[in-house]
Amino acid sequence: MKPNESSRTALMVARQRAAHQVLDHGSILYDPFAMKILREDEKEVLQFANGHPLASIGRLFTAARSRIAEDALSRAVETGIRQIVILGAGLDTFALRNPHGARQIRIYEVDHPATQVWKRQRLAEAQIALPPWLILVPVDFERDDVGEKLVAAGFQQNSPAFFTWLGVVPYLTEDAIGRTLDYMSSIQNSEVVFDYMEPPEAFSEELRQLERERTELLKKIDERSVSRFEPAGMAAILRSHGFCAIEDINFQGIASRFGRAVQGLAPGHLGVHVVHAKH
Ligand SMILES: C[S@@+](CC[C@H](N)C(=O)[O-])C[C@H]1O[C@@H](n2cnc3c(N)ncnc32)[C@H](O)[C@@H]1O
Repeated sequence: MKPNESSRTALMVARQRAAHQVLDHGSILYDPFAMKILREDEKEVLQFANGHPLASIGRLFTAARSRIAEDALSRAVETGIRQIVILGAGLDTFALRNPHGARQIRIYEVDHPATQVWKRQRLAEAQIALPPWLILVPVDFERDDVGEKLVAAGFQQNSPAFFTWLGVVPYLTEDAIGRTLDYMSSIQNSEVVFDYMEPPEAFSEELRQLERERTELLKKIDERSVSRFEPAGMAAILRSHGFCAIEDINFQGIASRFGRAVQGLAPGHLGVHVVHAKH
């Protein structure tokens, strides 16, 4: 990311979520704030969704990874977890939709300082108040110590926490990924849901060209996807950080579970995975 600019990919993902509400009726992830959080000139999501023949695949993955994370998070809250940390939150609206308000959970949204300022501005413009359980923590994963910043914001290191880390790992260096995993694994009984990308060879033929074009676009906006992993390599990294229960769901698994909910889903598969790991 450019140091003083908010994340452009965060906006792209938010528009995918809004398109999912309009085209697929939010059947994977129902999000009444998805459209509200967009500015007037960004609300043309149908044009955006139909702008590329394969956009349906991105929409499926965006909605499904949030759904998988939020389902796991709800189970964790049932078992007593009261701290939720949304790493690289972008325009995620979970904190606004929080179905666990009565259980006194605290939600920490951690994001790049520039993206967080931008989110605050658009929430204010849309007249959406920050809920009392939400704490915003500005952190640059490449430079800052995420633990220090969380503790300064009131996070209890001795209590368990559920982390989501969606659409972020590909943009970080392996060093920043390792330090963040180290921190999460230092919290007893922590859990995390995140997604990662495989090298381009894992993408189906029809999607490889799209992936090349996306890589070029990301280079131009200075949000390169720099870190890619083979599934076995990712499992080894997680085990080396002490995560034991590891569930890795590949794109085919996601498509067979949620694909029917996406209108006009294009053929092909991405080399992307969603992981739920417990410490
Ligand atoms: C593709 S967006 C995903 C946003 C959100 N998780 C979602 O699914 O809507 C990537 C997010 O990662 C954040 N990010 C990227 N690099 C970062 C860094 N070095 N430090 C902190 N956040 C970073 C961006 O600010 C952005 O919010």
